[in-house]
Amino acid sequence: PGHSEWKRNLLLVGFMGAGKTTLGGILSKRCRLDFVDTDQLITEQFGLSVADIFSRYGENAFRVAETELLRNLAARCRHSVIATGGGMVLKDENWRVMRQIGPVVFLRADEQELVERLSSATGRPLADDSDREAILERYRQRLPCYLRADLVVETKNQAPLEVVDAILGG
Ligand code: S3P
Repeated sequence: PGHSEWKRNLLLVGFMGAGKTTLGGILSKRCRLDFVDTDQLITEQFGLSVADIFSRYGENAFRVAETELLRNLAARCRHSVIATGGGMVLKDENWRVMRQIGPVVFLRADEQELVERLSSATGRPLADDSDREAILERYRQRLPCYLRADLVVETKNQAPLEVVDAILGG
């Protein structure tokens, strides 16, 4: 993303376990931007973990909250790095809003690394009950959605600071 563009906002998208929250934190500090994590804001709003929101209200309620939150962020977010939940890319509507917010960066992690990170229980309702094959299948199905990003950054064998450099250089 061009310098003047990312100075406003930058969005991170990618599958569960790709490191969006970790890298977003590092990137925002480095650039002195605010850091926003959509999962975190939704859990605060509900007063429940993501897993509890899914089990009590269902995935759809979570998706509706995600879209609503994104619209709010579009209205008020400036100078922020926004880490999104792994499913934010699924709706066309969310893409329209994300494009208004700023450039979208896809953190493309290695498939095996993703499966490793998600193979233990991590509090993610769409991964905790899935075996490795099911996780990979979900990832592969979603890949075209992630690839709609303005910039794709590979994270395999890269230290977090190298990934941050790749984002800033991109
Ligand atoms: C989801 C990813 C999670 C969270 C929810 C659904 C998904 O976010 O929003 O469990 O559909 O990929 P992370 O990508 O931060 O794990």
